[in-house]
Amino acid sequence: MKTILVTGGAGFIGSNFIRFIFNKHPDYKIINIDALTYAGNLENLKDIPDNPNYIFIKADIRDRVKINEIFSSYNIDNVVNFAAESHVDRSIVEPEIFLTTNVLGTQVMLDTAKKYWNVNPCDKYSKEYKPEVKFLQVSTDEVYGALGLKGMFVETTSLMPNSPYSASKASADMIVRAYYKTFGMPINITRCSNNYGPYQFPEKLIPLMINNCLKNKDLPVYGDGMQIRDWLYVYDHCSAIDSVLHKGLIGEVYNIGGNNEKTNMDIVKLIVKTIGKSQSLIKYVKDRPGHDRRYAIDNAKITTQLGWRPQYTFEQGIKETIKWYLNNTQWIENIASGNYNKYYNKMYSNVCVDIKDIE
Ligand code: NAD
Ligand code: TYD
Repeated sequence: MKTILVTGGAGFIGSNFIRFIFNKHPDYKIINIDALTYAGNLENLKDIPDNPNYIFIKADIRDRVKINEIFSSYNIDNVVNFAAESHVDRSIVEPEIFLTTNVLGTQVMLDTAKKYWNVNPCDKYSKEYKPEVKFLQVSTDEVYGALGLKGMFVETTSLMPNSPYSASKASADMIVRAYYKTFGMPINITRCSNNYGPYQFPEKLIPLMINNCLKNKDLPVYGDGMQIRDWLYVYDHCSAIDSVLHKGLIGEVYNIGGNNEKTNMDIVKLIVKTIGKSQSLIKYVKDRPGHDRRYAIDNAKITTQLGWRPQYTFEQGIKETIKWYLNNTQWIENIASGNYNKYYNKMYSNVCVDIKDIE
């Protein structure tokens, strides 16, 4: 029995991870802390049954006092740090919150975990930690920057982030690494490719295109639509994190991906065809500044060293995802009835956007 502190558990991947853990390890305790930003939604967890092993606390990872209080109240074994500002387009408009949450918030989590986990917290030379504790930082392949037509990211590829989002995630990775090197903190970092699946906020490519198709709205494709992403079904990301949490060697970085490279245009056309709409909805729009051309993950380390394998092919995963959105139109309606429409109209018009106006 473990107690896992999940941050950002009301978001897309965090909520899927909580569901995954309760299915796989029903005796584990999960404390989910989330600030419930525009991307956090407790509806994502409404199917988690009333369970004494599940606790939700509304908290901001930047709030040192609150995080300290949580660590002092519970005997936490592991932290899985999902909490982040996660959308590249928003980071282009309003970078600052990406730095405060993704970098400083991570540092608050590390500092507090170190204080409660280190056996001699007052000794700056002590590298002795309680048994079995681990801090798992959920990072992204975007920290490596963009690839040309050939090659794949391996764990030793240099970090060359191009957007404020990816730069903030790379900075967080560096601070996590520094806590390992300087303080001996037991950590892992995972760097996963683009996820898709149920409960993804409809500002990201796949749910945005599904939602727009359902509403017969234009499908905005940035630039020439030939950018390539390496897609992974969210369930497989969760199972990979579970493998790293239980089997990952301390201090190691693990790339996560399923070898599913697709152009954006191929994805959009597939969604249009599956939902039975007209290709005439597809519209080319102005490209995203600093748009990374291609991502591709070499997953040899996690597959050979930890025995992880993705279970879903892209064809299965996308079918499940579209089916889920078609069966959960109310979930999307509840989001769209909030500030989402305001966000959408401003983000996809060519006016100057201040994200504070659309939160
Ligand atoms: P998301 O935006 O859907 O969820 C983020 C969650 O974090 C939300 O519930 C939000 O309320 C919460 N949050 C934001 N700021 C917070 C703060 N200051 N304190 C506490 N909670 C806060 O994001 P996601 O797609 O689920 O991504 C989760 C993590 O996985 C992120 O760290 C992201 O960088 C990483 N990641 C995402 C992908 C992807 O394709 N979505 C791929 C690789 C890695
Ligand atoms: P996104 O889902 O925002 O993920 P990321 O930028 O983290 O990879 O975008 C995936 C790809 O889809 C990316 O190349 C940008 C492109 N895209 C569009 O063409 N149109 C859109 O409306 C969105 C949101 C993304």
